[in-house]
Amino acid sequence: MTGSVEEYLNQHKDRHLNLLLDLLRIPSVSADSSHRQDMRKAADFVRSAMEKAGLTALLHETAGFPIVTGCWREAGADAPTVLIYGHYDVQPPDPLNEWTSPPFAPDIRDGKIYARGATDDKGQMLTHLIAIEAWLKTTGSLPVNVIMVVEGEEEVGSNNLDLFLESKREEYACDIAVISDTSMYAQDMPAITYGLRGILACEVLLTGPNRDLHSGVFGGAVTNPINALVKMLASLHDEHGRVTVPGFYEAVVSLTDEERGQFAALPFSQEEFERDLQVKGTTGEYGFSTPERRWARPTLDLNGIKGGYQGEGPKTIVPSKASAKITCRLVPNQNPQQLTAALRQHLEAVCPPGVRMEFKDFHGCSGLVFNTSGPYFQAATSAIEKAFGRAPVFIREGGSIPVVASLKHIFNVETLLLGWGLNSDNLHSPNEHFHQRNFERGTLASAHLFSELAAMKTS
Ligand code: BES
Ligand code: MN
Ligand code: MN
Repeated sequence: MTGSVEEYLNQHKDRHLNLLLDLLRIPSVSADSSHRQDMRKAADFVRSAMEKAGLTALLHETAGFPIVTGCWREAGADAPTVLIYGHYDVQPPDPLNEWTSPPFAPDIRDGKIYARGATDDKGQMLTHLIAIEAWLKTTGSLPVNVIMVVEGEEEVGSNNLDLFLESKREEYACDIAVISDTSMYAQDMPAITYGLRGILACEVLLTGPNRDLHSGVFGGAVTNPINALVKMLASLHDEHGRVTVPGFYEAVVSLTDEERGQFAALPFSQEEFERDLQVKGTTGEYGFSTPERRWARPTLDLNGIKGGYQGEGPKTIVPSKASAKITCRLVPNQNPQQLTAALRQHLEAVCPPGVRMEFKDFHGCSGLVFNTSGPYFQAATSAIEKAFGRAPVFIREGGSIPVVASLKHIFNVETLLLGWGLNSDNLHSPNEHFHQRNFERGTLASAHLFSELAAMKTS
């Protein structure tokens, strides 16, 4: 990489920071329909930023929120083609009263940019766009062909993305994908994530009597939907922390001793983990360490539960309705559709008479692991080493990014998951932030990555 690219990044630091702050001011919450206008505003913002960076930018309508793409494909047929993915939607900011500064009024404190979406994923996504701009403005070209895809529905399951990508199967044929939407292992310990868990997300709703009833007059004689629900939900785990849904572990590939050894070799302190979360002790699937449970074992979690009286003081009723939202994290080889059906069947089988069960299937995607020995991982390792002054460690992550499985399936490409965030950045939590330093180093690593990828092809 020529020194002028790095120089450009240094000279334009303030403007690039302001670009991120401006994007962070747009409350693009995909889950909340009252933010529809803001979603459009964020998409337009990204499209215009792409154009200013020197990409040919387009906004594509979908059945949901728009997908924005930016291309520069003049590196020639011999140069690799890189597909870069990011998302402009963010998680809801609740609970609002726990934020020190408002979620959509970005504030810089202590070298950290505080705002919803700072690390997940506006800040991380922009590192690539800024690196592209630096290359194009200083050298007039890029060493690789670039297709940038930025969507607005990642946080709600990317349900309209596959149809779009399928329609671009030929046009977007590529050699490798790059995503910065994960975390480093620790501050000053950059990481390449070679595995993600998949997910299935659903909701179970029970309806009992047609109205809330007096619990003295009716209690004990009708099925209470909350009583029924909690019993059904409790049946989903056994005493060893294993999920009881029939067939849940059938396709799971067990961890090799080698990989268990690699996990165990990374610095991890169970005490620090508990101290950070202010808990005494943890539970999970019997026989696995905390890193194994987070990265490589399937799970079932209740995300929310609803029903009955939530107001102040007591209220003696048998409620009419109760419901719960459920997600499972899946490991490679487990099929989200099949397991959603199995979960539904299990719940139906344990649902008692006197309540009617409904089931909503929200979304799902598969988990993946990549082989880290290829030249692409080597190129990414060099790029990160140059920018961070330290080689990355190879890790898996427990979170999910639906597009990764789609890219493998549609374009047959692997994804380099190069995270510049930290798990302590409060993604999905109040006071989300992104370290300015990681924003800058991530941008520099991306700039190096383009030349490292190009060198890889010709050598
Ligand atoms: N960026 C996260 C995923 C992530 C975070 C992976 C940290 C690894 C480490 C992403 O935006 C996300 O939150 N994904 C959702 C996916 C779901 C809504 C389909 C998730 O994992 O809950
Ligand atoms: Mn994300
Ligand atoms: Mn997220």
